[in-house]
Amino acid sequence: MTNSAPMLETPPSFHHVSVMVEEITRAFATAQGVVVDATAGGAGHTSALLAAHPGISLLAFDRDPRAVEAARHRLRPFGARARVEQAVFSEIPERLEALGIGSLGGVLADLGVSSEQLADAERGMSFRLEGPLDMRMDPTRGETALELIARLSQDELADVIYELGEERASRRIARCIKQALASGELETTLDLRRAVVRAVGPRRIGGVDPATRTFQALRMKVNGELEELRSLLAFARVRLAPGGIAAIISFHSLEDRLVKREFSQRDLWERITPKPLTASAEELERNPRSRSAKLRVARRRAPVRPEGADAT
Ligand SMILES: C[S@@+](CC[C@H](N)C(=O)[O-])C[C@H]1O[C@@H](n2cnc3c(N)ncnc32)[C@H](O)[C@@H]1O
Repeated sequence: MTNSAPMLETPPSFHHVSVMVEEITRAFATAQGVVVDATAGGAGHTSALLAAHPGISLLAFDRDPRAVEAARHRLRPFGARARVEQAVFSEIPERLEALGIGSLGGVLADLGVSSEQLADAERGMSFRLEGPLDMRMDPTRGETALELIARLSQDELADVIYELGEERASRRIARCIKQALASGELETTLDLRRAVVRAVGPRRIGGVDPATRTFQALRMKVNGELEELRSLLAFARVRLAPGGIAAIISFHSLEDRLVKREFSQRDLWERITPKPLTASAEELERNPRSRSAKLRVARRRAPVRPEGADAT
């Protein structure tokens, strides 16, 4: 496989510490053929898999153009065994079609955002940094968080914050956000945080900032994260060869619930991890971001032949 875009000479800077790399590497020990990494990011997992398993090749995707650029650069030493394309999960089937790739040996996804995206104030994902209320992983398309807030009614906004942020004060928060918008005081991430604090007060509960859940909910809505995950799981079900491996790392209980439900279909999947794996104590120490990571791994079963069907 080759990358179509020209390579950069200067390595693009990209800061992200991959989680559960050893566990991911072990999960794909039996994989063969082409493995899709649906969340290339800085290519930490992709490069670990290529280095550990010489028999596989990797087709990596990311919706973020900067991640695609960084991953292409990092994977350069693997030559034709690695290819990186820009796409969202729901576009991967058509990309495979275009590349003439049939069934797969594995599908990997490490959901959510990278540290690089969080640390880039211009992306507007962090309540710690002043930036525009954007939140898109791919800044070239789709609605920004500010546009979303303006489009939704106060009740719809509250529903988003309640469902995706699991935030009990969602009604009060939505009211304060809409008030800030109406009075021209909602342009930046810090304005959004101020609106949340106006609704619930500045108290940090368990060291967690009061705006955490609202930011998470809006980011997930802006990027359609749950819908995208549903389409990724459907794609893995259809495209994995019998014996193919699916490994998904999630950071949010709603995501983990979707993965758990998918892998619980015993006629389709053999669960390799009946309970999700979490980061080791040593990794938690080294990389606090691994705290909420949950890894589930399953093997695609061969379709059961209907009784009496001709085996030839
Ligand atoms: C946690 S990072 C992945 C890090 C990567 N595994 C590594 O080791 O460097 C998640 C990445 O997935 C991408 N992403 C999230 N949702 C996506 C989607 N629906 N389609 C494509 N990429 C997505 C984000 O842009 C981000 O770069």
